[in-house]
Amino acid sequence: MCGIMGYNGNKNAIPIVINGLKSLEYRGYDSSGIAYFFNNNIKVIKEKGRISELEKLISDDKSNLCIGHTRWATHGSPNRINAHPHNVGSVTIVHNGIIENYHELKNKLIKDGYKFKSETDTEVACALIDSIYQKKKDKLKTLIEIQTILKGSYAFLIIFNDEKTIYALRHGSPLIIAESSIGNLIASDIPAILEYTKEYYLLEEGEIAEIKEDNIIFYQEGKEIKKDKLIFEHDLSSAKKEGYSHFMLKEIYEQPKVIDNFLKYYFENFNLIPDIRNYKKIHIVACGSAYHAGLLGKVFLEEYLDFNVIVETSSEYRYSKPFIDKDTLVILISQSGETADTLAAMRLAKEKGAKTLGIVNVIGSSLARECDDVIYINAGPEIAVATTKAYTLQVLTLSLIAFKLGINLNKITKEEQDIIKNDYLLISKEIKKLLKEDYQDLVNKIYKKEHIFFIGRLMDYYSCLEGSLKLKEISYIHSETYPAGELKHGTISLIEDNTPIIGIATDDNIYEKTISNIKEVKARGAYVILLKRNDLKVEETVYDKLINIPKKNNLVMPIITIIPLQLIAFEVAKKLGYDIDKPRNLAKSVTVE
Ligand code: G6P
Repeated sequence: MCGIMGYNGNKNAIPIVINGLKSLEYRGYDSSGIAYFFNNNIKVIKEKGRISELEKLISDDKSNLCIGHTRWATHGSPNRINAHPHNVGSVTIVHNGIIENYHELKNKLIKDGYKFKSETDTEVACALIDSIYQKKKDKLKTLIEIQTILKGSYAFLIIFNDEKTIYALRHGSPLIIAESSIGNLIASDIPAILEYTKEYYLLEEGEIAEIKEDNIIFYQEGKEIKKDKLIFEHDLSSAKKEGYSHFMLKEIYEQPKVIDNFLKYYFENFNLIPDIRNYKKIHIVACGSAYHAGLLGKVFLEEYLDFNVIVETSSEYRYSKPFIDKDTLVILISQSGETADTLAAMRLAKEKGAKTLGIVNVIGSSLARECDDVIYINAGPEIAVATTKAYTLQVLTLSLIAFKLGINLNKITKEEQDIIKNDYLLISKEIKKLLKEDYQDLVNKIYKKEHIFFIGRLMDYYSCLEGSLKLKEISYIHSETYPAGELKHGTISLIEDNTPIIGIATDDNIYEKTISNIKEVKARGAYVILLKRNDLKVEETVYDKLINIPKKNNLVMPIITIIPLQLIAFEVAKKLGYDIDKPRNLAKSVTVE
């Protein structure tokens, strides 16, 4: 969601900022723009659509200071006028986030004589900065004051007409700042700076950074502060395609490796897996695929607990009335660690006295820093919007937490522990085998369809939810998921000849039940793709295509089951010729509500 890139140094800033924006394309956007100093004026160029459209408008101007932006539209449609940067009076800004009180601010500024060209909240923030700066004539004091006025979330890069400095501040949305051999850089995320440096500062909420050509100064409450640098531990290749046609494909194929690394690390450091046996309530809160991982976490944990685990999407949880007390553990799952709703849910949980545990990928992200405890999934950068490796590692993390819980509650015998551990260690081998399978046949059968249905029960139902989300995210095929037993309460009326149904049946406790439901749709003409555990028997008449998933403990099964569904979604989208890594309307990191 909205990418920000800025540069101040002694090189030509424009190509550096454009390249930085390209490396942030994965965040999702629908217009882009840049602003730079030229002949002591600020020049703004922006355009609807991809960065390649913007590039067509860029002349051979050279500048040492430039700010750039990819916009994911919130206030106003994705057109050139609404694109960032915005310029009002002496101020030019780019913004990631949403200013919630922009409407009342806009009315006030209109009364003060300001005129607005766009429909955006950002232009209002820009005018606000200008109006305060006109009175105060002091940039730092102006920026301190706007923090007390603006409500909502923001990461801003700000330039004033009269000074070749970039000011940066944030509330909610992330910003990183780096010194490098080519000059000073500011960005929404690491991939934009990796070509030049692995060291960076994380701008904290309330801090202001003054980024000059040869110097960076940080302030907090108006006073200069010193900050420690962080180091990005992964190598540059982790943010490059490395010969794969798409980031999504690369990330699917990376799963055996990241899973093995994860297991090695956490089996050697089993004490880092939290002991949650003493909690009386457990809530799991997340968005999107992380929410699906949370649903599987419920199944894993409930195997050993004597109470139910509540799983809720963050956007609902934050406005619901969750019964939380000091004996409650709220587990928040987020790849980015910056999802606005998940952060709000975490803050609510803390306010109500619960303990919070974050399952996070991005090191040093807001969720990781603010939760009482954090487990890093260590997936490395995930660039494709549709998550794959981060999802499987989230599921694996919850599985290990449940495994430890079972051990601590003496519900898993020593002998069972060894068997389950062995199953964990076989995951990567089984995934590699499934990655070699050819799914073209069934891809050809489904890629032209308008509707697809997924059915399964319990953990298989939750894997269906994720498989279905993958498919619709990147192939734009309408896909719905039902608990297998629920389909006949209405939706079965949509099944006709050759309607594709993807059924998952890997749980032996309910296998026969799911198979009966699959027979019901087969009898009505459905084209059935069945994913079943390889040791469970089924008649050939039940399915059209069969995918066998190797038998493992239920703590492990869903981590393997999802692999063919990731690949099928990828292959279908590829066949349809879509922009798989950057699907329309979607954002990787959703930093607004
Ligand atoms: C977006 C992404 C999804 C992701 C969800 C939650 O919708 O497109 O892939 O699952 O946000 O993101 P998070 O970073 O909190 O895991």
